[in-house]
Amino acid sequence: MDIVTTAAALHARLADAGRIAFVPTMGNLHRGHLELMRLARSRGDTLVASIFVNRLQFGPAEDFDRYPRTFDADCARLSDSSVDVLFAPGERDVYPVPQQYRVKPPPLGETLEGAFRPGFFEGVCTVVLKLFNLVAPDVACFGEKDRQQLVVIRGMVREFNLPIDIVAGPTVREPDGLAMSSRNNYLTPAERAEAPALASVLREAAAQVRGDVHHGARTGELGGARDYARIEREAAMLLTERGWRVDYVALRALTDLSAPSPSTDPATLVVLGAATLGKTRLIDNIACGDRPADG
Ligand code: PAF
Repeated sequence: MDIVTTAAALHARLADAGRIAFVPTMGNLHRGHLELMRLARSRGDTLVASIFVNRLQFGPAEDFDRYPRTFDADCARLSDSSVDVLFAPGERDVYPVPQQYRVKPPPLGETLEGAFRPGFFEGVCTVVLKLFNLVAPDVACFGEKDRQQLVVIRGMVREFNLPIDIVAGPTVREPDGLAMSSRNNYLTPAERAEAPALASVLREAAAQVRGDVHHGARTGELGGARDYARIEREAAMLLTERGWRVDYVALRALTDLSAPSPSTDPATLVVLGAATLGKTRLIDNIACGDRPADG
């Protein structure tokens, strides 16, 4: 694996790269990232990964400074995953001058994550566009765990006519259901034990949407599985009762994250959630059309 840190070196290395598959990351790699590498590996002649902790997508009160930097371990993992080129620029290589031009995300970028992390999608889109321009990939892979990021980036690629296929990688989970995330490292042992509840509450909400579970059970009310607001409210309440601070539990259309109407086919929805345990904010989402393996 070649490690390059500047745009010029990247350009030279990729001169005869054939079809380029790309996975951008912020490092602190876990199995979820490595599955994305595996997916990307099969899509191109040259597999490029990047590690860059992008200051622009962190709010002033967020964890930019304490975001785990584990470069040596990351390099070993990427090399084991048959990555050909690691682009690991410094801040000045990506932002040689202060970034005054930014990508303004669509209204979708102000909802859900964007409502709780102002400027997040502007920072993500700006750096991803820059990385796309630097790497010039034919295909780029993003995880479904960050569902809204995936949808926003797909929209950016479409609307800016970027000739890049965006491929989604399924969320990789710990055996207890917790979605893999770099931020799981922040959890105390007690919080780690509680953390899978986010996925199980969202899975339960998805089952209610499908009509697998009668969702009036908690309140004794009867109601159709299409009472989406109530399903969202009850899921949020369950998490709050368990000690989480809930930002949102939201049912949205899987493809564009628009709000559903009662006539929307439940199988086309996804339930997304964001909530904080102690000091650690976790996000997850479950597609309502996906039945768990055990039925
Ligand atoms: O998902 C991430 O790790 C980041 O948001 C990304 C896409 C690498 C941009 O900094």
